[in-house]
Amino acid sequence: MRTYHQLTDPDRSGLLDQIGAQRKRVAERLAGVRRIVTVMSGKGGVGKSYVTAHLARALARGGWGVGVLDADLNGPTIPGLLQAPPTAQPPAVGLDGVKCISMGQFLDAGAPLSFTGPAAESFVWRGAMEASALREFLGDVEWGTLDVLLVDLPPGMQRYIELCDILGNPPAVLTVTIPTPESRDAVRRAMRAAVDRGSELLGIVENMVGREFVGTAAQDLAEEFATPVLARIPWHPTPETWSQLAAQL
Ligand SMILES: Nc1ncnc2c1ncn2[C@@H]1O[C@H](COP(=O)(O)OP(=O)(O)OP(=O)(O)O)[C@@H](O)[C@H]1O
Ligand SMILES: [Mg+2]
Repeated sequence: MRTYHQLTDPDRSGLLDQIGAQRKRVAERLAGVRRIVTVMSGKGGVGKSYVTAHLARALARGGWGVGVLDADLNGPTIPGLLQAPPTAQPPAVGLDGVKCISMGQFLDAGAPLSFTGPAAESFVWRGAMEASALREFLGDVEWGTLDVLLVDLPPGMQRYIELCDILGNPPAVLTVTIPTPESRDAVRRAMRAAVDRGSELLGIVENMVGREFVGTAAQDLAEEFATPVLARIPWHPTPETWSQLAAQL
């Protein structure tokens, strides 16, 4: 594989044109989307997808046009959480009228995501393929008019970085943590990366509050990043909890 520096001049300008054309396509598709909010944590299993789906539903019940892009290509959970049936013409429409797109709608039940490419160095290809799958979600789905598009990120920050590159500017970030110090430390790294990229921090949602997870992660991070704690979500919260969170966006 040649690197960018080994390309000839015509190749290089072709690449730039392609990137420009893709950005334009994404921008056109998202023209009717008032705001993009990524839900991230950097830590796995803290409830990003759960918070994304329930927040989306509360916003929709409040009269907003809401879409969810499930950027977790390998562990898509959004169609299940929104009970969105498969459709030939994405986006699918789930509970409370929330629109969504997810790799889960394209995979057979239980099947892992796989790409065909060279067997050697497959991790390189896989990364590139995943980024292009995200680009296709952003460039191909006709959302129509939306007040907000929530992007549910997988753990880690790679997909966030790809998203910034594809969009051309950094999206606003809603952070999810659980109360523990371990979560706080992992989430801190993710928030730093988001701030370094220029994302606006909307605030912190502390999830799974009140049982075995003990700590002050949300408060600590809020003070450190001068951003509000928007909600403390217990296990199995009531719809009012979500409405109160939705009212703050
Ligand atoms: N407040 C809550 N009350 C009840 N169940 C919850 C709550 N928050 C999360 N869960 C459940 O905990 C599990 C993990 O949540 P979820 O899948 O949303 O985490 P995640 O951060 O998206 O994980 P991943 O990092 O794998 O994407 C799910 O089964 C979810 O339904
Ligand atoms: Mg998830």
